[in-house]
Amino acid sequence: MTTVAPSRKGGGGMNGADLLRGEVILVTGGAQGIGNAVVRTAREQGATVSFCDLDPARVEAAVAALAADGLDVHGTVADVTDEAAVAHWVEEATTALGAPSGLVNNAGRNAYSDPTTMSVAEWDDFFDLDLKASWLCARAVLPVMLTAEHGSIVSISSIHSKMTMAGMFPYAAAKAGQLGFTRSLALDVAGRGVRVNAVSPGLVWTPLSETHFAERPEELAATLAVQPTGRPAQPSEIAAVVCFLLSRAASYVNGADWAVDGAYSARFA
Ligand SMILES: NC(=O)c1ccc[n+]([C@@H]2O[C@H](COP(=O)([O-])OP(=O)(O)OC[C@H]3O[C@@H](n4cnc5c(N)ncnc54)[C@H](O)[C@@H]3O)[C@@H](O)[C@H]2O)c1
Repeated sequence: MTTVAPSRKGGGGMNGADLLRGEVILVTGGAQGIGNAVVRTAREQGATVSFCDLDPARVEAAVAALAADGLDVHGTVADVTDEAAVAHWVEEATTALGAPSGLVNNAGRNAYSDPTTMSVAEWDDFFDLDLKASWLCARAVLPVMLTAEHGSIVSISSIHSKMTMAGMFPYAAAKAGQLGFTRSLALDVAGRGVRVNAVSPGLVWTPLSETHFAERPEELAATLAVQPTGRPAQPSEIAAVVCFLLSRAASYVNGADWAVDGAYSARFA
């Protein structure tokens, strides 16, 4: 990746020992970035974990890197926009680890389309990943969660769900959709042992943001200058919040959207 990484000051993350012991957590897009940090933290906190991602070599490398740190996880190749692939992943993970009790809808990408020239195919392609996939994955795990009357679904939205910027059409629409999805689903399963929440990160230093700023180096200093905390989040700082929401410790947090943005959105509230 690129060499524009800003200071890594802070961002150690927390290790809540046994917070997730007994849980079986599924994470989409777990080979790198925020998803990979969630996989690591959840496993460190005692969960058994399965993740999916697109590229076999990167899935294998991520599993090996975690194993090198003594963390055994199940990783497989699945495109979360593909209904059959999602069903197959959930089935494979259930056979390997047991019935899922947690799901993290993390896989997503940025969008930089021109609203006047974007094609319907491009629109569908983007929303398939940044919105529809969360429903496909939730639909695949909900039956066992509802039967067990135990489950937690966390979707990674973004600060863009509430305040966005020019040039990223239609990213904000999909991320705001994640919040509507979260509220709607939370109400539909409330009282049946399943909680549904969203986490909205601000700027997080991952391969996604590294690539963004490598392609737009002039934006980096200005973006860092408006961060009240003076730095981006590390993926582990998002993962710590996601894992808390996955845990029984968050038993009364439901239908919520938690900002993890270092006070960025507070400046404009
Ligand atoms: N990095 C940030 O600053 C930031 C801020 C707010 C929200 N987010 C959101 O957090 C999530 C993760 O972002 P990140 O920065 O870690 O991104 P990333 O690109 O570094 O990692 C995303 C992972 O998802 C995988 N993925 C993409 N499409 C997939 C598909 N169809 N099926 C399975 N896996 C797929 C990718 O291969 C990759 O490994 C995204 O939803 C993103 O929109 C990121």
